[in-house]
Amino acid sequence: MEKTTMDQDILKILYTEEQIAQRIREMGAQMYEDLKGKNPLFVSVLRGAFIFMADITRACQVKCDVEFIAVSSYGNSTASSGAVQITHDIQQDISGRDLVVVEDILDSGNTLNFLKQYFLTKGAASVSICTLLDKPSRREKAIHADYVGFEVPDEFVVGYGLDYAQKYRNLPYIGVLKPEVYSSKG
Ligand code: IMP
Ligand code: MG
Repeated sequence: MEKTTMDQDILKILYTEEQIAQRIREMGAQMYEDLKGKNPLFVSVLRGAFIFMADITRACQVKCDVEFIAVSSYGNSTASSGAVQITHDIQQDISGRDLVVVEDILDSGNTLNFLKQYFLTKGAASVSICTLLDKPSRREKAIHADYVGFEVPDEFVVGYGLDYAQKYRNLPYIGVLKPEVYSSKG
């Protein structure tokens, strides 16, 4: 296919569409083994995890239900400030439920650390974390994911749900933007 205007903003591709699909199949099979005796509730963190949620829930053929939560963290666009705010909450009682929180990327850990405590306070029996990407070099909170797709270096990545200034979420692969894309948008 011809390069789109989005493709032209990409410096390099870290994970292709095929590599992502293959890794998600493996994760789904592993999660199925862990979850098959349970009645898990998958909770996607909007907006970044919306594509991963659709793929991982289909790769893990366990009988489950799905929920969505939206959060925003104060601060600038490429680093979270630590303060997390829920902008859309889940719509059901989660007491006694086994939750699987589905995230696009575990970076500082502020978001997932907050959400894990929040769900446990609301009575979840367990909260496990499934993240497509893990950037351990930037961790500020002692939190680890139970399921990780890929460990990424300390670079800002876009695509497959991940954005820069709300764009590039619909790229089918994960890549790094050209530096001039940041500088031109300030
Ligand atoms: P944390 O709270 O610092 O772990 O950050 C989690 C959120 O920051 C993710 O859900 C993303 O929305 C965003 N984020 C962190 N790193 C990146 C990146 O490299 N690209 C795009 N978004 C990112
Ligand atoms: Mg996000």
